[in-house]
Amino acid sequence: MVAPLRPSAAGKNLGSRMDSIESQSARVGSNPAAQRSGRSVPGTWLTPTAVQKACGGELLVRGRSATGVTTDSRQGCEGKLFVALRGDNHDGHDHVAAAIQNGARGVVIARDPADVPGLDRAKGAFVVRVADARRALLDLAKEHRRRNRAKVIGITGSCGKTTTKEWLGAVLSAAMPTVRSPGSYNNDVGVPLTLFSIQPETRAAVVEIGTNAPGEIGCLTAVARPDVAIVTCVAPAHLQGLGSIEGVAREKSDLPRGVHEDGLCILNGDDANVRAMADSLSCRVEFVSTRGESDWFATDIQTVGEGTTFRLKGGRVVELPRAGMHNVYNALFVLAAAAELGVPEDDAIAALCAAKPASRRFEPKRAGGVDILDDSYNMNPESARAGLQALAGMPTKGRRIIAFGEMLELGDHSYELHQQLGTAVWRAGIDVLVAVGAGSKPIADGAIAAGMPRACVHFVDSVESAQALLLPMLRDGDRILCKASRRVGLDRLVDALIASLTAANGGASPGQQTAD
Ligand SMILES: Nc1ncnc2c1ncn2[C@@H]1O[C@H](COP(=O)(O)OP(=O)(O)OP(=O)(O)O)[C@@H](O)[C@H]1O
Ligand SMILES: [Mg+2]
Repeated sequence: MVAPLRPSAAGKNLGSRMDSIESQSARVGSNPAAQRSGRSVPGTWLTPTAVQKACGGELLVRGRSATGVTTDSRQGCEGKLFVALRGDNHDGHDHVAAAIQNGARGVVIARDPADVPGLDRAKGAFVVRVADARRALLDLAKEHRRRNRAKVIGITGSCGKTTTKEWLGAVLSAAMPTVRSPGSYNNDVGVPLTLFSIQPETRAAVVEIGTNAPGEIGCLTAVARPDVAIVTCVAPAHLQGLGSIEGVAREKSDLPRGVHEDGLCILNGDDANVRAMADSLSCRVEFVSTRGESDWFATDIQTVGEGTTFRLKGGRVVELPRAGMHNVYNALFVLAAAAELGVPEDDAIAALCAAKPASRRFEPKRAGGVDILDDSYNMNPESARAGLQALAGMPTKGRRIIAFGEMLELGDHSYELHQQLGTAVWRAGIDVLVAVGAGSKPIADGAIAAGMPRACVHFVDSVESAQALLLPMLRDGDRILCKASRRVGLDRLVDALIASLTAANGGASPGQQTAD
């Protein structure tokens, strides 16, 4: 069964990407000691009594200790505690029997055991009944985190969490046993599952912490109890749930406020809403900036091909193979956190520059002489602005083209924010704009109203129509940015463009390995 993740109006229903703790550990792949010895996730504290105590439930049936926690009955249940979560499409209680059949040693249920199919026939597994299985998962994760000595680095912000998390994960992994959230597992299921991947050998856990409703970050912070917190930026995102930019800032500030007195908060010093968070903190604070001297600052920032160079703290030059000012910030967050965990600066820079791009986040691809920036993972006004500026600054032989889809979850501000984006497209000097899907029409309208020639602005109603429009239009040397909220499906446009352009040129497209 697939554990439910935060159902998101942004279309990021990550449920299909959830997998068991084993597969996460395998993907994290950063516990060399455990991997070499072939040991399983230890988790030996998971005795029936300890589980019952940790989540305040009732121990209905005794049994042997579990060695880890899973929410997926289909695979990797061997020896694990299966927590039966109820989601929009599945109810874990319907899969308890399968989990036990697949080797689960214990189950946490939130139903009358008589209503759990097959539980009466399942032998050998301990059973704990709780009021709320989702809460139980959080409580178990909190206890697991408490019993391990890994430093936890929590990352939040409206954009850049996954990118920063992936890069920091790569940098720390090169120096110490490290785990990190797989993909964008950043909610009340993803965060606990990430924490369960901490093993006794683990020294660092890089945890992405997200939100789309007030109180989520506070709740997850209390579970993860971070030693280091990073806040990347505060921008209009998830406004439907958080109401206003002030609401976003208030919500994000719960992460730094949850850092203990000896810990460190790394804040974007150039974002007034993030900077202001420092006022209420009792722990150490370091700021990153590209606008002037700061704890971690970058100067002499230059776009070089598809990368960026910058001078770090007035000293050495970093050659980051990623474009965009936003990635300079992400790099600074990573270097600041790596220093806090004792990684020598030269090692951190080397590992940072070797880190793969996060999948479909401004990921450069090339097919048939056309450069494609695959930014189809997600979009909000801030990341759109970042992508637009980065594209505008990249040396391009042909035309700069943008395929923008709708930004979801913007509530009452949606129309206006889309229109403003259209204006920004024209001001950034983009040659061609293709607005994809009904909700993107105000982007096209905004561009035309700002003065962009009508002939350069296209509005199409679907990904397929965008493909039909773009394929005959694209020429060698063009660079196209494809970006929208995930549910719009511009990843399909990118993949189709690559396949067609590659086939038309009779060759294979050079694939690029990404981080997830
Ligand atoms: N520091 C940043 N500022 C603005 N945009 C950024 C930043 N870092 C990355 N981006 C852009 O934001 C988009 C999402 O990136 P990423 O997945 O790293 O963010 P996220 O915060 O994890 O998003 P989500 O909330 O969807 O999990 C991408 O288009 C990426 O290029
Ligand atoms: Mg993310």
